[in-house]
Amino acid sequence: MTIKIAVNAASGKMGQQVIHQVAANNQTELTAAFCRVGHRLLGRKVGFQDIVYSSDFDSGLSGSEVVIDFSLPEATFPLLDAAVKNNTPLLIGTTGFNSEQTEKIQNAAKSIPILLAPNTSIGVNSALALLTQAAKMLGKKADIEIIEAHHKHKVDAPSGTAIRMGQAIAEAMGEDFDHLKVTDSRFQKCSRNKGEIGMSVIRAGEIIGEHKVLFALDNEIISIEHKAQNRLCFAEGAVSAAAWLASQQPGFYTMQDFISSSH
Ligand SMILES: NC(=O)c1ccc[n+]([C@@H]2O[C@H](COP(=O)([O-])OP(=O)(O)OC[C@H]3O[C@@H](n4cnc5c(N)ncnc54)[C@H](OP(=O)(O)O)[C@@H]3O)[C@@H](O)[C@H]2O)c1
Repeated sequence: MTIKIAVNAASGKMGQQVIHQVAANNQTELTAAFCRVGHRLLGRKVGFQDIVYSSDFDSGLSGSEVVIDFSLPEATFPLLDAAVKNNTPLLIGTTGFNSEQTEKIQNAAKSIPILLAPNTSIGVNSALALLTQAAKMLGKKADIEIIEAHHKHKVDAPSGTAIRMGQAIAEAMGEDFDHLKVTDSRFQKCSRNKGEIGMSVIRAGEIIGEHKVLFALDNEIISIEHKAQNRLCFAEGAVSAAAWLASQQPGFYTMQDFISSSH
């Protein structure tokens, strides 16, 4: 039996990669591909599959066991409402939600399973575990800097992954990330304060996604780095996690829940 997967924002870079990966995974099948109303792809066949691009959430979700969303926050919420209405589990890979929007997603997770993942790659989620270890050993002694680089089209900054890395580091140190993070200190002509977590952002060219965390001591530097070689690493993790999410109880999940359940 294959798991029936719907894909939102199917016209996007990630939407296309997820569609490719759903077909490549022998445990999953594509049952719906959503594009916004008026999109030029609507009514066209999705590759060689027996599915056409559609904007009808209700009919697509009714034949699906889980839906995957990589879009923009304003596009996620109409899908969230439809997923709750159709009782369809939802994996959200979209980034850039503010705290009010995140709270709305967490509330919806009282009625359906929702996995919210600013980064769905297995590699980044392994890096998060390493960062937690490093922060416990070095966090109080080191200057910590998170440097992230993405393509010039990305609209949110710092990236959702960089924020998640900062939160994991702060949690391991027993601190609140919002109190430690500094995003613009280099422009204020002041030296670095003890204990801050600096965030540096690069937007250039077509960089897929790179994150590097420095733990700088006075005489040595430890760095933990992840570089996405292509978007398939995000799609692979998203499709595997969505297949798992399809059979979970209503609740709010992260990639760590999926990874720890599969070991
Ligand atoms: N979690 C992860 O591991 C991960 C990895 C990569 C990217 N991301 C995130 O995933 C999201 C998408 O990235 P991408 O690189 O695929 O971007 P993209 O190529 O620009 O695709 C964005 C998609 O969202 C759709 N969209 C935008 N606004 C919409 C609206 N108001 N209503 C309906 N659809 C709308 C676009 O539709 P149109 O074609 O009609 O414009 C397009 O299909 C971003 O938030 C990015 O940060 C997450």
